[in-house]
Amino acid sequence: MGATPVSVEHTTYNPDAVYLSWEVDGKFFGDGREVALLEYIYARPDLEKLRGNPQKVLQAIDDYGRSVRGLINIGSMKGSIVCDIIARHRPAVVLELGGYIGYSAIMFGHAMRQAGGKQYYSVEKSPLFAAVATSLIDLAGLRDHVRVVVGTGAEGTRRLYEEGKISRVDMAFFDHFKPAYTDDLKLCERLGVVGPGTLIVADNMVLPGNPRYLEWVHASVERKREMDKGAAEKGNPNLQYRNQSISSWEPSGQEDAMEITECYGIED
Ligand SMILES: C[S@@+](CC[C@H](N)C(=O)[O-])C[C@H]1O[C@@H](n2cnc3c(N)ncnc32)[C@H](O)[C@@H]1O
Repeated sequence: MGATPVSVEHTTYNPDAVYLSWEVDGKFFGDGREVALLEYIYARPDLEKLRGNPQKVLQAIDDYGRSVRGLINIGSMKGSIVCDIIARHRPAVVLELGGYIGYSAIMFGHAMRQAGGKQYYSVEKSPLFAAVATSLIDLAGLRDHVRVVVGTGAEGTRRLYEEGKISRVDMAFFDHFKPAYTDDLKLCERLGVVGPGTLIVADNMVLPGNPRYLEWVHASVERKREMDKGAAEKGNPNLQYRNQSISSWEPSGQEDAMEITECYGIED
């Protein structure tokens, strides 16, 4: 286990923040609801008030999630915790893996800009979701600070690194394909994208859970060196992490937790 004890916090449950069920006819996303969201937003009578206003765009997305279709975004309850972390940590550059329709990119990109940050990169595998996100980020007036990159977490991270857009990031937010978290973190470690000073926020530690990821970020340097020996995807086991688990609620109303991992050094 890591050097620092894990503490658990709960945030206030807000029943008014809950979305409609994600599941419709056995589908949780990708059944047309994301394009329908875009049409809903651009048909709103208050569209002009949304322009350049991230909070109002988020409210409009929440309205859709509560009255038309559930959406698999982070939602306002867990999202507000991350905004507080951004206000305290003041990241200049953030890397997000799993952008969906841009809710977290708008919320956290706005929080980052308010905290004096420069650039939020959101990597999203689906070109369709990425297009929806790009349009909503533009509507929110965040075009200069938030950029959507189409690709898997690994592809997007590599491309941004090779293009010289990212080196060490101040914060990484993992909210994509759960089995890919560990290997994508290891890639970030190898490239030096994650290193001393980086804060990693990883969502969905309860729903559906991610034991392999938690094992890696909680392991001692010595243990990670052992684990890395036979691993196909190697990380940088010398990075020292301390962790905190924060419990909160999905927009579905179900309880979940985020793992907050701070890289505080490198062991020789
Ligand atoms: C839970 S959603 C992200 C929600 C978003 N962060 C928010 O809070 O607004 C997960 C997203 O990850 C995307 N995804 C799935 N596998 C991926 C991968 N390997 N790399 C990047 N994105 C992926 C999905 O297309 C989906 O849009």
